[in-house]
Amino acid sequence: MPKPIRWNDSMLTGIDEIDRQHRVLVNTLNELITHLPDAASEELAERITRDLLSYTLYHFDAEQGLMQAYGYVDACGDDAARHLAQHRAFSERVESLRDQINRGEALDLSKVVKFLQNWLVGHIMNTDLRFGEFVRRARTTSAGPT
Ligand SMILES: [Fe+2]
Repeated sequence: MPKPIRWNDSMLTGIDEIDRQHRVLVNTLNELITHLPDAASEELAERITRDLLSYTLYHFDAEQGLMQAYGYVDACGDDAARHLAQHRAFSERVESLRDQINRGEALDLSKVVKFLQNWLVGHIMNTDLRFGEFVRRARTTSAGPT
């Protein structure tokens, strides 16, 4: 099983709300790593992936709300489109993981977890940091969300 993600301040976007949510996502994913291997219990796997999915959706909504508030789509259309596509791909991946668990299918857990970890860290470090920079700049150059 992969090692848990260790939070690192280089993952900070500088947007408090987003950074708090990213920490929760990292913790939830870490919980998955800690509990899934001994979770012969499908109920537990079901609960953790449900938490992961609902928090993921909540978090994406928050980011997308900020995108709207600061005109990200107008200012950086390509980045915004890529960003949204990444969000969609991730939630679909988590949903299909849940389907597999619900159907009682055998999973290569370490592969799934590795994918989720790589996605989360890669997304935060590239896509979200760039977006955070945009929001911070917008906040310093204007009175606030439009
Ligand atoms: Fe994002």
